[in-house]
Amino acid sequence: MQIKSRKLKNVTSVFWNSQNSSLVLLDQRVLPWDIKFNEYHSVKDVSEAIKNMVVRGAPAIGVTAAYAMVLSTIQALTKFKQQEKRIEFLKMSYQTLISSRPTAVDLENFAKIVLEEAINTNLSVEKVLNRAHSLRTQVIEECKKIGIEGEKIIKNGETILTHCNAGAPATVDYGTALAPIYVAHSKQKKIRVIVDETRPRLQGARITAWELYESGIEHLIITDNSASFLMSKGEIDKIIVGADRCLQDGTIANKIGTLSLAISAKYFGIDFYVALPWSTIDQSGTKASKIAIEKRDEEEVKFVTSKEQRILISNEKSSALNYAFDVTPAKLIKGYITSKGVLTLEQLKKVIKKIKKE
Ligand code: MRU
Repeated sequence: MQIKSRKLKNVTSVFWNSQNSSLVLLDQRVLPWDIKFNEYHSVKDVSEAIKNMVVRGAPAIGVTAAYAMVLSTIQALTKFKQQEKRIEFLKMSYQTLISSRPTAVDLENFAKIVLEEAINTNLSVEKVLNRAHSLRTQVIEECKKIGIEGEKIIKNGETILTHCNAGAPATVDYGTALAPIYVAHSKQKKIRVIVDETRPRLQGARITAWELYESGIEHLIITDNSASFLMSKGEIDKIIVGADRCLQDGTIANKIGTLSLAISAKYFGIDFYVALPWSTIDQSGTKASKIAIEKRDEEEVKFVTSKEQRILISNEKSSALNYAFDVTPAKLIKGYITSKGVLTLEQLKKVIKKIKKE
């Protein structure tokens, strides 16, 4: 099935340039004003790019980390003669990467897979690169399936609210929360999307709105604090968001503001769905209270950054608090949109157990 999801044909947000063995990232900080790609040759620079949000969105960060481990393998082979030193370097690279953004578990999951591949294959660049390529393909294929499965719950004429950006740039291609919307649109269902602007970095107003506009999907940007009022007026039929981490008990961590949406949705009897690939599952048994929630620079709250300017919008002498994510309990979630269907909590738990055994 063809899913129209992005402006630039044959270009995705994370890819490998085999001509000069570099990782290429779409610079999401300047969307939608510029379409700019940056090239990376070292783990240190990729880790900075993740921190600065050149690349963002849990699956896209995961794939980026996988390729960063390929760069690390190349660097280790060039820098060190002893195998021990090389492996030490790879392990350090892994630690650097996972600390760059701690909440999105895809990063940890994918970096670990490629680290193990490097160690098990005696640092074969070819094998390590193939592993990273396969993870990238896995994410893209899964997102397509999420779209096909999620479309089944979207009725003709519905208005769907989404938060942050869980579209093509966030997932290499297609998206998670946006994928069902693209499929519904391609099946000629008439739908309207309400886009939370998503303070402070405005991923909704900048990226989601841009994607939907380019795909010809009707949408409206709202301020984050408008969502409950729209729900109270009966103007929202469904909410679909992505996730940065999903625990074994179905709790999810996602962009700050997700929890308030889920609480309001419960209050007003609106179905709240989470769309996610399997790489977003945290299989470690972590408890909700122990999820590492990233706290970002207060400047992101105090200033707004447009294409050309950075403007102070708050009292300069005041401090600000900037948690990037929040945690939503499973009891507020109606269903999980996955490549294996739209699952209830019990069904999700069964699949998680099965995957863990495999
Ligand atoms: O801080 P961000 O922009 O990386 O946060 C992104 C989100 O919270 C997304 O909803 C999540 O990563 C899912 S993307 C498919």
